Formats: sequence, structure tokens, C-alpha cells
Amino acid sequence: STPYENILVETRTGAGSMNYGWIALNRPKALNALNDPLMDELGAALLAFEADDRIACIVLTGSEKAFAAGADIAMMAPFNFANAYRKGLISRNWDTLRQVRKPVIAAVAGFALGGGCEVAMACDLIIAADNARFGQPEVKLGIIPGAGGTQRLPRAVGKSKAMDLALTGRMMDAAEAERAGLVSRVVPAADLHAEADKIAQTLCGYSTLTLMAIKESVNRAYEAPLSEGLLFERRLFHALFSSNDQKEGMGAFLEKRPPSFTHD
Ligand code: CAA
Repeated sequence: STPYENILVETRTGAGSMNYGWIALNRPKALNALNDPLMDELGAALLAFEADDRIACIVLTGSEKAFAAGADIAMMAPFNFANAYRKGLISRNWDTLRQVRKPVIAAVAGFALGGGCEVAMACDLIIAADNARFGQPEVKLGIIPGAGGTQRLPRAVGKSKAMDLALTGRMMDAAEAERAGLVSRVVPAADLHAEADKIAQTLCGYSTLTLMAIKESVNRAYEAPLSEGLLFERRLFHALFSSNDQKEGMGAFLEKRPPSFTHD
């Protein structure tokens, strides 16, 4: 029933009155290589979930073999500088992920290479199956990462490992990615989706106001000097004391009962 051809989209029932979005990249013949139709559909699905007040968060996943093996090389091969620049290759429909203010959880199994690794890194947290492989192999194609790989990877894993991965084009496995801080958890491949469901269910039980404020504040850490980031955090912290959800959350704790948030 999905109106999309390159992704599978579902609304899953969460805790309380909230739901969460589930998006699975689905171009199995090309290992979910990211072409314009796929990225347009991904953007549309993300924005539809973003606009739905009953959606608390979004899970983005691929198949067991590949999260995504990169931008579509067949699509990119004929480009020259002029049309890549004019058309904004790897920007027009790749930046949508950055507009989403709700948490996006990447659940990665198999290959997350090039643009696939970059899409995962543009999500808010990455959980990985034990068969996941991460890398920036663009160097082998005579190009460099073009969707954040040279910027988000060093922030996630430090300069030395980012240089290692981008300069050699080698893949790292899930255990190395977890040690390096790129992924937050590694689980057996068979449990990946259940683990993503569990995280999404947990978030569905919280106030969407606080989830969005946490995301916004953590992301400031990558944009602002510490003093400005701390000030930004303090302002949001104070602002949340004007919400019903703060009264409910603290009231429920003191009354020793579970909270029931109204997201206002
Ligand atoms: N673009 C287009 N097609 C791709 C693709 C990609 N990135 N990755 C895989 N495919 C296609 C293959 O061409 C193949 O298609 P056919 O069956 O029609 O030949 C199909 O998917 C299956 O792939 P393989 O037969 O290669 O599968 P494998 O298991 O032998 O190897 C792999 C898997 C190691 C991931 C290998 O497919 C591979 O190296 N892929 C390319 C990875 C890559 O270079 N990614 C970076 C792209 S550049 C980029 O992403 C730029 C950016 O920063 C935004």
C-alpha cells in the first residue's frame, strides 16, 4: 500500500498515544544505492512523519545485506563539474534529513558505504547489526565523500580514524565502529529491528517537546563554542518549565506513578 517505489514506509504503534515512523530503503538489486528517486522518496517520507503530531521519532533502516552501498555510481558517472554544481549533486534531496527535528534512529545492517555511511551519520544515533560494515570508499572512485563524510566522520571517530577510512577506503566492522564511537550499540543481526523498535517505543513514552529539545541542544554542540552551547542548553532547559509535560513528569515522579505526557 506504500506509494513509494524505492522505500518501504510504515507507521508503527508506540507507547501511550504516540506512534513512530519506520522507513526501510528498498532497492535490493543495487544494494540500496542512493539515486534521486530514492532520495526524493526518503525526503518526502521523512517530512510526512515530521508533520504528523502523533509521530514521536523515526527509524531508518535498509536490508540485512545493505543499509546503503553509497550514492548511485551509475547515476553520478556522467556528471561534469558544471552540471554537478548547478544541480547541486548530493545536496538538493540529501539535506532533508537535516531539517527533521524529531529523533531519527539509523538501524544499520550490512554495507553502509560512502553516501550510505553519510546518511547514517546524518541520523541522530546509529545502532548496528554485528554484520554492519562502514566506510568511505569514494577515494577508489576518484572522488571524495560529498555528503558529510569528511565532516561528520572526524567528529564521530576522531581525525586519525576518519583519515584512515577516507584515505584508504577500507571498511570497518561493527565492533570497530562501536569502539570508535560511530555507533551506540551493536546487536546480533537477527535482533536489529527489535532493538530499533525498543528504542522507538521508549521515545514514544516521553514528551516530544523534550525529545526535540534534546536533539536541538545536542546538535548545537557541533555548531557552537562550549559557552554558547551551554547558554543554548540553559535557555531550552528554562523554557521547558513552562510546559505541561514538565509538571506531569515531575508530578508523576513525586506521586510514584508513570507519567502521561500531553506533548504541550
Ligand atoms: N551505486 C550503484 N550501484 C551499486 C552500488 C552503488 N554505490 N553499490 C552496489 N551497486 C550494485 C552493483 O553494481 C551490482 O549491480 P549489478 O548486479 O547490476 O551488477 C549490485 O549493486 C550488487 O553489487 P555487487 O555485485 O558489487 O555486490 P558485492 O556483494 O560483490 O559487493 C560492495 C558489495 C562491496 C558494497 C560493492 O557493491 C561496492 O563496492 N559498491 C560500491 C561502494 C561505493 O563505492 N560506494 C561509494 C559510492 S560514491 C558516494 O557515495 C559519494 C558520496 O559521498 C555521496
